[in-house]
Amino acid sequence: MAKTWIKGLGAAAVLGVLVAGGMYLYGSASGDVPPATVDFAKLGPQEFDTLYKRGEQVFRGGDCAACHSSPQTGAELAGGVPMVTPMGTLYGTNISPSKEHGIGNWTADDLYRAVAAGMAPGRKNLYPAMPYASYHQITRADVDALWVWLMKQPAVEVANKPSEMSFPFNIRPAVAMWNVLNRPAAKEFDISMDELVRGKYLVDVLGHCAECHSPRTKATFAMDGSHYLEGNTIEGSYAPALTPDALSERGWTKDDLVKFFRTGVSPQGVMTFRMSSVLEHSTSRMPEADVRAMAAYLTQNREMPGPKVKAAEGQTSVKGENLYLGLCAGCHGAQGQGQPHSSVPMSTNTTAMFPTPINLIRVIREGVHERDLAQGERMQTMPAYADKLSNEEMADLVNYMRQTWGGRPGDVSAAQVAEHVKTIEHSK
Ligand code: HEC
Ligand code: HEC
Ligand code: HEC
Repeated sequence: MAKTWIKGLGAAAVLGVLVAGGMYLYGSASGDVPPATVDFAKLGPQEFDTLYKRGEQVFRGGDCAACHSSPQTGAELAGGVPMVTPMGTLYGTNISPSKEHGIGNWTADDLYRAVAAGMAPGRKNLYPAMPYASYHQITRADVDALWVWLMKQPAVEVANKPSEMSFPFNIRPAVAMWNVLNRPAAKEFDISMDELVRGKYLVDVLGHCAECHSPRTKATFAMDGSHYLEGNTIEGSYAPALTPDALSERGWTKDDLVKFFRTGVSPQGVMTFRMSSVLEHSTSRMPEADVRAMAAYLTQNREMPGPKVKAAEGQTSVKGENLYLGLCAGCHGAQGQGQPHSSVPMSTNTTAMFPTPINLIRVIREGVHERDLAQGERMQTMPAYADKLSNEEMADLVNYMRQTWGGRPGDVSAAQVAEHVKTIEHSK
């Protein structure tokens, strides 16, 4: 995410020079703040309880901990998650109620402005790595609940790490330019009890799924609304299309999506790469009704046929098949059937179905550490094969898998494998 929008920042910075005196834009777009929905000074115990519970749900649904927890201690609000971009490194900030290092002196209005409009007190424009381009539609009621919950968490006395951005990206007015071009004005979502409407709010606003799953515009690298959730390669992996047609095509059903979001694994596969932290900090901790609402919205409640083992397309590569049988079948099965709770099936796995083989290549190169998923699901180790396979062999193997289980042609060349490896290494 960081990488793509930062290129947009580059385009915006160039424009900023053209609009000589772009400085005047500094801090001009903070948006109007809707009035608080509660009187914080007069909260009864019951009202407080309701707000506190909702606040935690907003925090989980918004996946705030993915970027604001400490990578060292795991403290959820301490900050320090690095976001590496070609223009430098940025860190998630301390959002605990520490008065010195966190947001202990902030009002609920301040929090609304930061989350919905990307503007911190002192008219400080936040970098769009903080996904306010999605949060801009958050309801004021949800921010009020979030504020109540945040202010009751333990203060963490850890200083923020200064961002290490290079010129001109270290000047926040360049960010204001990006905002003027790309950030929709903060405007509350029209929420209702309807499951599909709640699902849309959870997917688009709190879950900010489109930040990874929508392609970006070439001009400013903003999320491209005209290709909403159509898939994007971002930070060295592909976040696949999530439209109802695409989900149906890859064998998803509403119930399997619920299973995937709650446990991290379903017949269609296991969460990997950036999606793992979405599982860890967000979907596995959301109320089941919310996860169902997301699945209802994504599938539009359509009946979908579910996983089906696709027939191989044309002649599959014998070299690829031999590699698979020699290296992989011991865990994933000769027919790709997998082993329950231990290693995932390949026969119904979506990874071989994606238009790009980048995730397949990356998983095979890097392997996956043994890990706990959620709700008691766990996975054993998948070994890494980066040093064991040439680009040629990788192409044979990937082609065999894509043809056998992906319904894709086996046309990936060794040169393309090398390109994908470069993209993966650049993202680190
Ligand atoms: C994808 C990563 C990401 C997610 C998710 C995210 N943030 Fe942020 N947030 C950041 C980054 C990076 C910054 C620092 C931006 C900067 O320095 O301009 C930031 C800044 C902030 C700030 C400003 C702090 C200050 O001292 O100026 C607040 C408040 C904040 N985030 C709250 C939240 C809340 C609440 C959520 C969940 C609803 C959230 N963030 C989700 C990355 C994220
Ligand atoms: C020792 C057992 C083992 C071997 C050998 C093995 N894998 Fe895996 N593989 C796993 C496990 C376990 C996972 C799930 C890991 C996780 O997500 O935590 C996995 C995950 C995967 C995934 C990701 C699936 C998804 O849903 O995202 C792919 C693709 C894959 N393996 C392909 C291969 C290929 C190709 C080979 C041979 C080169 C191979 N594996 C060898 C155990 C193994
Ligand atoms: C930080 C980037 C990021 C965010 C945010 C994100 N995803 Fe993903 N997602 C990915 C990547 C990368 C993959 C591919 C790896 C995998 O399958 O786990 C993926 C995979 C998926 C899949 C599996 C699709 C398939 O066919 O295998 C689903 C479903 C999904 N995401 C839904 C969501 C939803 C819903 C949200 C918002 C709540 C979301 N994602 C937010 C990066 C992201």
